[in-house]
Amino acid sequence: MSAQALIEQIAQLSKEAQLKIVSVQNEADLAEFTQSYAGKKSALTQVMKQLGALTPDDRSLVGKSANEYKEALQHLLTAKESELLKNKFALLKETEFVDLSINPPHYAELTTDFSESGHIHPISATQQKLESIFTSMGFTIVDGPQIENDYHNFGALNFSDDHPARDMQDTFYTQTGHLLRTHTSTIQIRALSQMKPPLRIIAPGRVFRYEEIDASHEHTFYQMEGMVVDRRVSVGNLLHLMQTLLAEVFESEVDVRLRPGYFPFVEPGFELDMKCLVCSGAGCSVCKHSGWVEVLPCGLVHPNVLKSAGLDPNEWQGAAFGLGLNRLVMMQYGIEDIRHFMGGKMSFLRQFGN
Ligand code: PHE
Repeated sequence: MSAQALIEQIAQLSKEAQLKIVSVQNEADLAEFTQSYAGKKSALTQVMKQLGALTPDDRSLVGKSANEYKEALQHLLTAKESELLKNKFALLKETEFVDLSINPPHYAELTTDFSESGHIHPISATQQKLESIFTSMGFTIVDGPQIENDYHNFGALNFSDDHPARDMQDTFYTQTGHLLRTHTSTIQIRALSQMKPPLRIIAPGRVFRYEEIDASHEHTFYQMEGMVVDRRVSVGNLLHLMQTLLAEVFESEVDVRLRPGYFPFVEPGFELDMKCLVCSGAGCSVCKHSGWVEVLPCGLVHPNVLKSAGLDPNEWQGAAFGLGLNRLVMMQYGIEDIRHFMGGKMSFLRQFGN
């Protein structure tokens, strides 16, 4: 085909696009439009394919007109995109307007008592209960940032740069090289470098993981870190502490057992199980017929962690645990799906009101 014919074809295409864009009403139309006028299978691609057969002069002529076409098309697309966005917001303004100054009618139907007040979320309630148990045992409550650096989340906790254990805690990274903390163990490092041992701390807070979401995995959940550092701390101390804690939370005596568990920042590391309270260890669906329920990971603080905070591991020893608050509350109340906690459903939350 001659250069002239190709240029005419492009002009024709341009005209067509200008007419067609008027009928684009939504994002799906826009995607279709973009595909047929700029996509891989568009008429423009067919035109471009024929460039190779032209003389260099003709090629640059046709190329120029193809570029002009693309530029014009880009203008059309940008204008359309902002028009669609504007329409979308206008529509949202109409349909999602909420007058917060009046009681919505369906609310009036649901409850007759307009003085009904809110209540504490079940996770906060359990957190507060734990805080009071631990402060009564001489622990201090400490806090730390949710946006962390690699050092506090991994490096100082004995995860070397290419440690495979990092894969278990994938997370969200910011463009500045920070990350959303994957656990409250970050506080171990912060506390060790700011407080003088002996110390006993707990650090409740929100943590994040890059997870495939399902009934037992959330991208955002709550943990409570605990750490004791003293001249002599043993696994026996740790066990006793955990047993006391669980007995208070579940308001009954509990049997616990330790299994080996791996975390780079503890040595030895354990998974602590509790004898199932539903079947007293006989086996049921709650404990998956094993008689035991996994409650929390724990262990003795690794000497490298103490060292990274400037403490001499020959002088100081530590024990630490990481309690998953969501998991604990799920066991406390028999909640089957972790997504309920942040789902915002009032019917779920109301069950925890007074
Ligand atoms: N931080 C660990 C996790 O989130 C749990 C943990 C805490 C393990 C303290 C041992 C000691 O997986």
